[in-house]
Amino acid sequence: MAPLNTKKTKREPGTTNASSIKIPLTRPYMNEAIKKKVCEVLESGYLTEGPVTKAFENALRDFVGCAHAIAVTSCTVGLELALRALNVGPGDEVIVPDYTYPATADAVAIVGATVVLVDVSRDSMLIDYDSLEQAITERTRAVIPVSLFGNPLDYDRLNEMKKKHGVYIIEDAACSIGASYKGVKVGNLADISVFSLHPRKFITTGEGGIITTNNPEWAEWMLSYKHFGLRAENTSRLGSSFQMVGTNYKLSDVLAAIGLVQMEVIDELLGRRREIAQKYISLLADIKAISLPKITNGGTHSYQSFCIFVEERDEIMHKMRASGIEVQIGTYSLHREPAFASGRGCEMSGSLSGSGFAYSHCLALPFYHQLGPKDLEKVVEQLKRALR
Ligand SMILES: Cc1ncc(COP(=O)(O)O)c(C=O)c1O
Repeated sequence: MAPLNTKKTKREPGTTNASSIKIPLTRPYMNEAIKKKVCEVLESGYLTEGPVTKAFENALRDFVGCAHAIAVTSCTVGLELALRALNVGPGDEVIVPDYTYPATADAVAIVGATVVLVDVSRDSMLIDYDSLEQAITERTRAVIPVSLFGNPLDYDRLNEMKKKHGVYIIEDAACSIGASYKGVKVGNLADISVFSLHPRKFITTGEGGIITTNNPEWAEWMLSYKHFGLRAENTSRLGSSFQMVGTNYKLSDVLAAIGLVQMEVIDELLGRRREIAQKYISLLADIKAISLPKITNGGTHSYQSFCIFVEERDEIMHKMRASGIEVQIGTYSLHREPAFASGRGCEMSGSLSGSGFAYSHCLALPFYHQLGPKDLEKVVEQLKRALR
């Protein structure tokens, strides 16, 4: 693997003071080949979406093993595009797990559909399949399950439900490039999947997202919509025409260059992440006060984040941050956020106690491929001290 850049990435709000961080939460993969590729694009004079973005889409498509990959400017707009391609809008309901990043539900609200929040399993933090099934009504058009932190979903269960109720499955795969289920990669398991390329994800373009599907009509529609509605057209004098109103969600070649070079080492990066996760698991094995989220049976985790459950999470988090170890909550319990309070285009279905548990107990530990054995020991040592 090429040499690594050790510069820190921008942190999320509410984290430790930059100067006091000894071990950050995350660091993107950066090397000379990436810088060279970005400079080549800058010097080419072609800065908008073009051949480099196409090559990046193709690399991701081949890695996932699906038929189509479409780059966009973020996972959030990718989810919006997926919902629009399936013609989901006002009057429709879309089921979303309560424990996720707000973007999952934002996309539903943006297309004018009703967000229906359901609980997650207390063991895995993934959508609770019984709660999901109970929330389905005649207005339900789609479900957006989230393969959170890189833990794949139970797609057998989701497909049974899809067959029974005739709903679409759009996977929020923001965190799960490289995860798989029974040997099939995430991105090739739902009707439409959307990955994030935010710097906390291990394949990143700074900001960006990528949509995958095996359905050619949806792919063509999404490609056109993100490109002002432009479509190849035999009867047009210019070979293409604006067939519908669209928008601009194109990913610049400058950004795609970063992801394209990272794709060359994706298997090595994944292997390294799994190695670090195993090391954490063995170092944490004798700590009775913590437990680990359950990995889906038949699934292979991609470890975008490494999370534990711990009592008094906030106190532990503050103590660890004070010692220079940047830890973070897992993600958000949407029904607690004012944006999703009931009655504003958002409904809650059943108890959300699993989500509440995750919101108060989940702690994300530093996790990036450059973490060495000494760093891991330091993190675990500080965790033990914080627990005393
Ligand atoms: C589960 C989930 N969905 C969606 C997003 C949004 O991704 P993006 O920043 O690419 O829009 C995130 C971002 O962290 C996420 O964790």
